[in-house]
Amino acid sequence: MKQLNRRDFLKMGALVAGGAALASCTPAPAPAAPAAAKPAEPAKPAEAKPAAGAQKLEIFSWWTSGGEIEALNGLYDVFKKKYPGVEIVNAAIAGGTSSGGDMKAVLQTRMMGGDPPESFQVHLGGELLGSYVAAGQMEDLDFLYKEEGWDKVFPKELVDIASTGGKPYSVPVNIHRSNMMWYNKKMLEGVGAQPPKTWDEWFALADKLKAKNQPTLAIAESGAGFTAHVFETMMIPVLGPDKFKGLFSGSTSWEDKGIGDALNILKKALDYANPDFLNVGWGDVNDLMVNGKVGMIIQGDWTPGVLWSKKFQDFGWAPAPGNTGIYQMLSDSFGLPKKVKNRTAAINWLRVCGSKDGQDAFNPAKGSIPARTDADLAKYGEYHKSAMADWKKDKLVPSIVHGAAAKLSFMTDFMNAINVFATKKDTAATQAALVKAAKDAGFQK
Ligand code: GAL
Repeated sequence: MKQLNRRDFLKMGALVAGGAALASCTPAPAPAAPAAAKPAEPAKPAEAKPAAGAQKLEIFSWWTSGGEIEALNGLYDVFKKKYPGVEIVNAAIAGGTSSGGDMKAVLQTRMMGGDPPESFQVHLGGELLGSYVAAGQMEDLDFLYKEEGWDKVFPKELVDIASTGGKPYSVPVNIHRSNMMWYNKKMLEGVGAQPPKTWDEWFALADKLKAKNQPTLAIAESGAGFTAHVFETMMIPVLGPDKFKGLFSGSTSWEDKGIGDALNILKKALDYANPDFLNVGWGDVNDLMVNGKVGMIIQGDWTPGVLWSKKFQDFGWAPAPGNTGIYQMLSDSFGLPKKVKNRTAAINWLRVCGSKDGQDAFNPAKGSIPARTDADLAKYGEYHKSAMADWKKDKLVPSIVHGAAAKLSFMTDFMNAINVFATKKDTAATQAALVKAAKDAGFQK
């Protein structure tokens, strides 16, 4: 099979988007089973209060956790300084690793009702292009990219998965890496272990911790999403990056034996998870590791943002087992829905999202690296610098759970199939559910 390189990754993004656009001109379905929306975090008060009756800028996101709040407020602060007359309405709805499921459900209702917010958090790639753009809900941002010269400062990899038909539809604020392992240094040292490089090494470590009655793998599966994220990082080493990418372009079948093998790794690993994982949410799982109740979290690099905000420093990081040299990526962005109430404020928000000041205010607290290539490195720490170096040299693969690989309906099916697997542990039934989801999404016949 032809080896895919970084550039092919882009083509794949366009393919996914294009295929989805052809397949569907109807609005994306709302994610399954939205839980009750939690109240939004209030935006920090502006220094100079906008006058009564000021233009409102309503921003949807699912950033309500440590690291996320500081990062979002960083962007808001830059906006408030530049546009003091506009009132920001922070309409964040908690959603963590369900990849914003609750927010997306509310957003869908608002969009369908012709009442969109001025802008909303959306992942570049399939989620943006295959869902909101395919449904005709977004304005194209070609004019803004030209005015701001963004083609020159955003990597081509990102512009391509922000675009369809040669036009960009969203403004990336960052690049996250999802296939990472964050571990409690004391717990690993307690059994004399190094961070495991393969799943075999991982199980050897997990046995040592189990002998001390300590779970190794943090899982927060009170809703769908977290386990699916962990599972993606198991698929990558079994399939290899090229076959993994082929799952979304039709060149790899979801019937491949590798999918079943990866499910069996997950089945075994769940025996080493915090036993109450079906009742634990993402908000609490980080505390388990901070408090030495579980050895590690396999999650994206928003995790250091959460840990820093808890003033917890005693953690190390490494790529998830078998993932060295592979950068599973996703990018958070903001776009311009059609028919917003305050279009000028929305466009100015996007200018801030794409600006150097905005990105350097947002990313140091978030854990992600800036989308722009001209960041002020003095503002970033050790983790960010290692991620920036890896981004340049690693092979790129897109995240499923975080919207880069596929449209929303597939993401939801994928997360739900793995959520069921977490309780039933039925490999054959789960692979069959994934094959069906892939067929529904048009990835295979
Ligand atoms: C991702 C999102 C990240 C991060 C994470 C946890 O989907 O892209 O920015 O916030 O969810 O909420």
